[in-house]
Amino acid sequence: MTRPRLRATGLATAALVAAGLLATPTAASAVPAKPTPAPGKPKAAPGKPKPGKPCTPRYSPGAPSIGDPYFPDQGNGGYDVKHYDLDFSYDPATQVMDATATITAHATQNLDRFDLDFRGPEITSLTVDGKKSAFSRDGQELVVTPHGKLKAGKKFTVVVKYAGVPGPVTDPDGSIEGWIPTDDGAFVVGEPQGTPAWLPSNDTPTDKATFRFTAKVPEGLTAVGNGQLLSQRTRNGWTTFVWDSTEPMATYLATITIGTFEVTESVTPSGIPSYVAIDPRLVAGSANAVSQIPKMMEFFTGKFGPYPFASTGAIVDYAPQVGYALETQTKPIFSNTASVGTMAHEIAHQWYGNSVSPERWKDIWLNEGFATYGQWMYTEFNGGATVEATFNNSSNYGRAATSSFWQVLLADPGPMEMFSSIPYNRGAMTLHALRGKVGEEAFARILRRWAAIHRYSHAATADFVSLAERESGQDLTAFFDVWLFQKGKPTSW
Ligand code: ARG
Ligand code: ZN
Repeated sequence: MTRPRLRATGLATAALVAAGLLATPTAASAVPAKPTPAPGKPKAAPGKPKPGKPCTPRYSPGAPSIGDPYFPDQGNGGYDVKHYDLDFSYDPATQVMDATATITAHATQNLDRFDLDFRGPEITSLTVDGKKSAFSRDGQELVVTPHGKLKAGKKFTVVVKYAGVPGPVTDPDGSIEGWIPTDDGAFVVGEPQGTPAWLPSNDTPTDKATFRFTAKVPEGLTAVGNGQLLSQRTRNGWTTFVWDSTEPMATYLATITIGTFEVTESVTPSGIPSYVAIDPRLVAGSANAVSQIPKMMEFFTGKFGPYPFASTGAIVDYAPQVGYALETQTKPIFSNTASVGTMAHEIAHQWYGNSVSPERWKDIWLNEGFATYGQWMYTEFNGGATVEATFNNSSNYGRAATSSFWQVLLADPGPMEMFSSIPYNRGAMTLHALRGKVGEEAFARILRRWAAIHRYSHAATADFVSLAERESGQDLTAFFDVWLFQKGKPTSW
């Protein structure tokens, strides 16, 4: 699902024109209205299709990447995924996954070949629109040559069957993600590039889709996915969970985490259903953080606007080798005891990061800076340090100008630093400085408009800069220059 603007159609139209499939303005308006001059050969621009003559549509391969320099193989061109359906079983004893993924997409160009991103186990069969199709694998590229050609604008369905042991992916900063086996199941996360470890996908935040996971696990274990639980049935020692994500989701926010969990279902004061799954070892330590989810939901709704999803909750699992939490859509996931601060951060991400996702990974401060600022705001609301005090403390503006902290570019921190304190802390400081610059009212409007305009979509730093200028009526070139586009500790803005 690309953003509901001109993008997809615009590209498709350009491709059609380039392929000679659409009449160009010259060809279309070539019929004179007035008396025809002496008969002769109908004029047609050189290289353009002659009127009345059917042209042969041209087909070409979709791009193998969307061109994000941080992860050059990520994402693919030529199509737009609408829905992923993954039906699988997983046995923690053998770590074997047996899966069928059904991907529904629309072609955005005439395709004779396209790529998916996939690092998972061995593929046993692959069909496109029900016909067996040739495929090959090269790194994370799954190259599919459909039996029949795919026409621009048409829907097509890919079914991939695979079985084997999925595993983790290591990131440039050394952290792990993807499919991470635990002592009682698997911890499943995908930011920024882990989801293809277990799901063939168009792994880019610029192609959101709806998802359904049907997960069969040994009785006694729980499989927790994004969205709402449609059903849970036990038969012959296996329990099948069906999870439905009804709003568009970026692939990196998908999870279907498996383990022994204590589950609590409730409803927030505004009527949003909540599903919280906690590893029994972490229940006591995480109780405070989890109990504040409803309060966080209300607080952020007041500041950011309507909560974008149909459900909320959390997954608190024991996977200490991971060492970070993630804002998996509708249910943030923790790899150890959840703290109140981190819970607030991950809930704030549901608006900023999940509903509004970064267009390119260099825009990561739009995720981490906003979620960290939400955390600061919640801390103040909850009776802790004021936002102003946090801005000034020694992890933030209080750092010496000579600190290496100031030597990373916020607008383009690089793949090694994308989850370092730069996007989080300098990002949140940027928002607080902006608040001081434009005033309370304009700042409140900017936060809400950002969530509203780009809901279920993606946006880039330049979009934020123009929104801030529009809402404040100020020229903020110099302001954003020192905070975003220059290294060094800002001294005046
Ligand atoms: N976005 C996550 C958070 O702020 C952090 C993800 C870190 N991912 C990683 N591969 N290191 O909660
Ligand atoms: Zn975050």
